[in-house]
Amino acid sequence: MVKVVAGNWKMHHGPAAAERFFSRFSPSVEVGAVRMVFFAPDLSVAAAARAVRVPAEFGVQNIHWEAAGALTGETSAEMAREAGATLALIGHSERRHIFGENDAEVNSKVRAAVRAGLVPVVCVGELLEERRAGRLETVLRRQVGAFARSLAGVPESMVAYEPVWAIGTGETATPEDAAEAHGIVRSALGDLAGVPVLYGGSVKPGNAAALMSAPDVDGVLVGGASLDPDVFARIAEAGAGVRPGGPS
Ligand code: PGA
Repeated sequence: MVKVVAGNWKMHHGPAAAERFFSRFSPSVEVGAVRMVFFAPDLSVAAAARAVRVPAEFGVQNIHWEAAGALTGETSAEMAREAGATLALIGHSERRHIFGENDAEVNSKVRAAVRAGLVPVVCVGELLEERRAGRLETVLRRQVGAFARSLAGVPESMVAYEPVWAIGTGETATPEDAAEAHGIVRSALGDLAGVPVLYGGSVKPGNAAALMSAPDVDGVLVGGASLDPDVFARIAEAGAGVRPGGPS
């Protein structure tokens, strides 16, 4: 399986900036050597999909679980798909901790993505105090358990392990930390053996290859370092150079 290198632009890069990004983004990777995904702001998805010059897929960063309705400010999975998204990030820690999303809502969104034919990319991860209290496994099993059944029989899905203490902090999990957590996520996924599990949290060009070489790490979800086309190109190149068992 090739590595997934996904950028999460968060609330950055409107349509014009997305176009500028792709006018400069040209990683030296062979076609098919890495799977590149961009989670753009809703309003930038169409512009980004038009401007991209390399093989890449696009996703939104959040969806509502209803297909349509009197829900001011929300976007449905169906609308995201119509705008050119083929994936949806669900349950990112900023959604969980800033906007108060709970496990049940995350599961509803997973089901909505599946209904609309979007690939759900579901985020899980522990807070620093949970890790310090020895609750890593309990938290990850609870979070994965809330949606795992909704992924059964689904053609494609992904999970992203993003320790909350490593997001936007410059603090990265070591490849050993990532491997341990990914092992737990993988075991919590049970029969869903083919689901790629990505690592996220302060991924940079300098640590991307080592993280992607760790056991059970199928790719990366990159926030801050995905905003600059040259920096993100180096992470994509790291992904293309990594094969199971280590960098080639
Ligand atoms: P970061 O964000 O790479 O800036 O830590 C990762 C994420 O939130 O997906």
